[in-house]
Amino acid sequence: MIRLAHVTDLHLGEAPPALVEEFASDLIAEAPDALLVGGDLTRAARGVEFIAAWRLLESVAPHIPVLAVPGNHDIPHWDLVDRFFKPKADWQAALPDRVVTSLDLPGLSVIGLDTVSRAQWHLDWSAGSVSSRRLRALEEALEARANPRCVVLTHHPLRHPGWATQRQPVRNAALALDLLRREGVELILSGHLHRAALLTDEGRPWQVITPSALSERGSGQMGWTMLECGEAGLSIRRRDWRARQEQREALPA
Ligand SMILES: [Fe+2]
Ligand SMILES: [Fe+2]
Repeated sequence: MIRLAHVTDLHLGEAPPALVEEFASDLIAEAPDALLVGGDLTRAARGVEFIAAWRLLESVAPHIPVLAVPGNHDIPHWDLVDRFFKPKADWQAALPDRVVTSLDLPGLSVIGLDTVSRAQWHLDWSAGSVSSRRLRALEEALEARANPRCVVLTHHPLRHPGWATQRQPVRNAALALDLLRREGVELILSGHLHRAALLTDEGRPWQVITPSALSERGSGQMGWTMLECGEAGLSIRRRDWRARQEQREALPA
């Protein structure tokens, strides 16, 4: 059995230090085999926020593989020159060298898909996008993976649950989902909505949405998800780390 911690939407810069400490101790106590970081590490893509976020994540996962994708809060919001011409400069500068964008573990491959968008032809610039370049890179990563069993990590959900259908969809989500289906991907792990959901109604890939690790904004929920992969397949445990409680959710066989 391998166990992967999915943490997302930390928004470092918002949470008080005592809360951050408490979150870190819960994650350390659960001792995952790998850490999947789903983006929105920061509140405003400031260098100091990135440094604080990675200091925290490196402290909880010093000896295990770490895979990360950025979120919409990890690129400049108001500085349009930086947003358009060097949107990931601070993300890249703070990213530890050992953080990867795809991972082959025994029996499970995990691939990160960057869905962050600089601008779109509507007013919601927090929405995600999968460009044709990203689709090609995703296809290559899927073909190169070591295991048939595969999970994809994104910041933006590629499908929205019923309570979020008013949200702007990810551009080209349908193309990405078609590719993931063709390649037999079982599960997408996402964040961004700050509220937990599990979507299984349209078959594979199922989609788990993990709430923010450290911000109650939007839903009152905070938590992280432990994805477990064993002989019997995938299952998840949702950790409400403040209450030290968890809820197990079975994924279809
Ligand atoms: Fe967020
Ligand atoms: Fe987000």
